[in-house]
Amino acid sequence: MEQYIIEGGTPLKGEVTISGAKNAALGIIAGAIMTDEDVLIENIPNVNDINVMLEAISEIGAEVDRIDAHTVRINGGSIKTLDVKDEYMRRIRASYYFIGALLGRYHNACVPLPGGCEIGARPIDQHIKGFRAMGAKIDISGGSLYAKAESLNGAHIYFDMVTVGATINVMLAATLAPGKTIIENAAREPHIVDVANFLNSMGANIKGAGTDIIRIKGVNKLHGTEYSIIPDQIEAGTFMCMAAATRGDILIKNVIPKHLESITAKLLEMGNEVMEFDDEVRVIGAASQRHTDIKTLPYPGFPTDMQPQITVALSLAEGISVVTESIFENRFKYVDELIRMGASIRVEGNVAVICGIKTFTGAAISVPDLRAGAALVTAALQAKGRSALEGIGFIKRGYEDFDKKIASLGGKITYISD
Ligand code: UD1
Repeated sequence: MEQYIIEGGTPLKGEVTISGAKNAALGIIAGAIMTDEDVLIENIPNVNDINVMLEAISEIGAEVDRIDAHTVRINGGSIKTLDVKDEYMRRIRASYYFIGALLGRYHNACVPLPGGCEIGARPIDQHIKGFRAMGAKIDISGGSLYAKAESLNGAHIYFDMVTVGATINVMLAATLAPGKTIIENAAREPHIVDVANFLNSMGANIKGAGTDIIRIKGVNKLHGTEYSIIPDQIEAGTFMCMAAATRGDILIKNVIPKHLESITAKLLEMGNEVMEFDDEVRVIGAASQRHTDIKTLPYPGFPTDMQPQITVALSLAEGISVVTESIFENRFKYVDELIRMGASIRVEGNVAVICGIKTFTGAAISVPDLRAGAALVTAALQAKGRSALEGIGFIKRGYEDFDKKIASLGGKITYISD
C-alpha cells in the first residue's frame, strides 16, 4: 500500500515548476497516431495517466520512443489493430480519444465504453452524436463501442452542453474528414486550444479554438511535427491554493497567468496577494482570509478540477462560503474526509456550505479521486499534527513528483510504499 505521511503546520515557501498539461497531452498523444510520420512531443508530464495512454498506443502497434521523462517520439505508421483493449479504458477515461483519432484516420475503431466514475456518470452521448453527424455508424454491444464510416464528412454539430472531451474528440475526427465541420457550443479550455494548435502544426486546418465556435476544414493527410505542450493549469492552481491554505509564499514557475485568472480572482477576493509575471505567479497567503462564493463553470469560469482545492482554502477563511458544483454531480465525496480533519461543511446536492475554521487536525485519510487527493494533501499540510493518506495512486495519475515538489517547498511529506 502506498501512503503519504504528512506532518502539518509548515507554511509552504519557495519556488515550484509546473509540468506539462495532462489533459492536453492525452488529446495530443491520440492525435499523434493520425499520421505515419514521426511526431515529437515535448513537455509531456511524467504522470501515470500519460504513461497508460502511451502504453495503449504502443499496444495497438504505434512506435513509442520515450527519449526522456518529458519527451516522446511517436510513429503511428505501424498501427496493426483498431481494437483498443478494455484494460486501458478502465485505467483512463480519456482513451475515448481513440474513437476520434482512429475513426478520422482509418474510418474504423473499436473502443470499450467508459463506465461511470468517482465524480459522476460522465456519459459520452455528445461524442457519439458528433461522430454520427459526420456519417459514422456507431454500434454499442458487449460493452464496446464500434465506430465505422464508409466515408467521413464534415458536419454542423451543436453540443447540448459544453464538453471538453466531445469537443476534442470531434475535432480529432474532423481534421481528416472531407468538407467543413462546425462545432457550436464548443468548450474553450486552454487544452482545447493546445490540441488544435498541435493538429494545425501537423497540417490540419482548425480555426476558432478557444471560442465557442470551432471551424475545421478537413485535409487529406497530416504530417509529422515537433510540439511542446502548455503548462498544466490545474497543477498550477493547486499550488496557488496550497500557498493560500498554508499561509505560505510560493513562486509558481512555467505557467500561463491568463489561464489562472479565475483562480487568481478568487484568491484575491479572499484577501491573498497574487502577483503575475510573464510566465510565473507568486501567491502569498494572508494570515486572515475572507469567505467568498464560487460556482464551477466551463472555461473561463472557475474549473471543476479546482473545486476541492479551493474548498480546502475556503475552509480556513473567516465566515460562510458557498461552493456550487455545476459540472459533475458527485464531486463532494472528499468532504467527509475533510470533516474528519475538523472542517465544518454541509453538502446539499451540488452545493457545499462552508463555515470557516482556524485549523485542520491531522487524521488517517482515504483519497477518493485525483483532484480531491491534491486537496486533502493541502489540508494535511495545514493541519495540526500528523496525517496518513492512502489511495495516493489517484494523485499520481495527474501530479508529477507531487511529494518531491511539496518537500522542496518545506512541506513535511514522506512517501511510503510497502
Ligand atoms: C474533462 C477533463 C476533466 C475535467 C472536465 C471538465 C480530460 C481528460 N478530463 O473531462 O479533468 O474535470 O473535462 O472540465 O480532459 N457530458 C455529457 N455527455 C457527453 C459529454 C459530457 O453529458 O457526451 C457532461 C458530463 O457528464 C459533465 C459535462 O458534460 O457533466 C462536462 O463533461 P466534459 O467536459 O466532457 O468532461 P470530460 O471531457 O469527461
